Amino acid sequence: MTTRQNSRRDFFKKASLSGIALFVSSRFSFGAKPSVPGNASLNQAISKLAEYQLTGQSKQNPLPYAYADLEPSVDAKTMEIHYSKHHAAYTKNMNEMSATANSGSKPLFQLFAEIEKYPVPLKNNAGGFYNHLLFWTIMAPNTGQAPEGNLLTAINDSFGSLDKFKELFGNAGKKQFGSGWAWLSVNETGKLVVSATPNQDNPLMSTTEVKGIPVLTLDVWEHAYYLQYQNRRPDYVDSFWKVVNWKEVSRRYEEALTAIK
Ligand SMILES: [Fe+2]
Repeated sequence: MTTRQNSRRDFFKKASLSGIALFVSSRFSFGAKPSVPGNASLNQAISKLAEYQLTGQSKQNPLPYAYADLEPSVDAKTMEIHYSKHHAAYTKNMNEMSATANSGSKPLFQLFAEIEKYPVPLKNNAGGFYNHLLFWTIMAPNTGQAPEGNLLTAINDSFGSLDKFKELFGNAGKKQFGSGWAWLSVNETGKLVVSATPNQDNPLMSTTEVKGIPVLTLDVWEHAYYLQYQNRRPDYVDSFWKVVNWKEVSRRYEEALTAIK
């Protein structure tokens, strides 16, 4: 073999090895699945929220209304099972898993901010605990309420009108594939944003693309509506507007803005 042939062979050997290295590097470098970069200023704001005191050793708050009080939008049996079985299970599991992961005393929002470091079952159950805790507060019996004041102005500025916002948020819930949640959040610039997340993910989590402080949410898991609506998720989503506690959404909006400023 000539010197030139040897050089060509060495070249292709090296190229092949570096190609393998590049392939391995691009697929497996850093060992973990990619996560969305954190947002320091948003996390700083989140640390000022009243609910920052929640930890991985928390209890369900009492439901602020009776199981039947959200009818006809949400039937009593669904509310009973949802609160006393599903939410109770997420809470119990979170507390047990947090103890195992030595994160029980850590603020829950701090855990969300670095959730990629924790096992997925803890993420699912801690998310399930907080998402439902928030969800119960932003509903109330036949409120007849509509957003007003600063919140209404912000909705109009961000989405054009209340109807356009409802359509956008409603579609986020209707079109979420499988189980998940629709969200209205205040982002790191104080702007309102609509998003959807799968499973029990939420906008506080480091792994969620659209981050923010949630002020309104809708559970679109089948356990939230199937007894009453079966496959008609859009009907459930449309009926949700009758029981939105806009006063509480507004309070959360003002709290989020104050924390971000
Ligand atoms: Fe749920």
